[in-house]
Amino acid sequence: MKRLRLGVNVDHVATIRNARGGRHPDPVRAAKLAIAAGCDGITAHLREDRRHIRDDDIARLKAEIDKPLNFEMAATREMVDIALKTRPHAACLVPEKRTERTTEGGLDAVGQRAQLAPVVRELKHTGIRVSLFIGAAPAQIEMAAELGAPVIEIHTGSWCDALTEGRVAEAKTEWQLIQDGAQLAASLGLEVHAGHGLDYGTAETIASLPQVVELNIGHFLIGEAVFEGLPETVKFMRAAMDRGRKKVSE
Ligand code: PXP
Repeated sequence: MKRLRLGVNVDHVATIRNARGGRHPDPVRAAKLAIAAGCDGITAHLREDRRHIRDDDIARLKAEIDKPLNFEMAATREMVDIALKTRPHAACLVPEKRTERTTEGGLDAVGQRAQLAPVVRELKHTGIRVSLFIGAAPAQIEMAAELGAPVIEIHTGSWCDALTEGRVAEAKTEWQLIQDGAQLAASLGLEVHAGHGLDYGTAETIASLPQVVELNIGHFLIGEAVFEGLPETVKFMRAAMDRGRKKVSE
């Protein structure tokens, strides 16, 4: 059984910092604390509008952390150039709309095939591990494989929202889609990650899918850290994931 890695997304530490300007709280300090508490990597999304993470955060994360950096980015020329300069361990291609509050839905890999193909190629050529953030629909997963992306990250937002809002039948359908999608992706040779909207409960549940090898979690962890502190929160999350992982072999 592959170990399930935890990537901590530090975007919202920067959101709080930017609410006042200045340097506090520092997302790089949060990244170091999360690593010391047992996470396996750090994720940060440099959005076109720089609403949270800024260019120098990315440069500092790359220079100062000793775990893999997963750079979330839109498939634009500007972001590709920053990725090529920064050389993070991984780049996760995400859709980006200026008006959205967060990344709503996955990439349309089928519809954007022509735009994505050269970006995947260019990043891969530089040795960056490319992942596509997509919904679990089979056509999207098959297109990710066709585009030559070695990794997909399944968008878990619709499943998590349906659960939180008590839409039970919908949550069941979304969960089935995720399970089937993880299986299909693994059968196509893709590495499977998952993320968006996860909390302790949903992370524990998804940890029971043997094909999933990495979860990227931000908003819940940073929010919960206000109450429990970041190291405790990361440790609780790690424990929830380990509990879920044990269920695979039961
Ligand atoms: N994975 C990807 C690709 C994302 O875009 C995000 C949100 O930035 C996350 C994971 C983390 O989602 P959340 O902040 O809801 O945990």
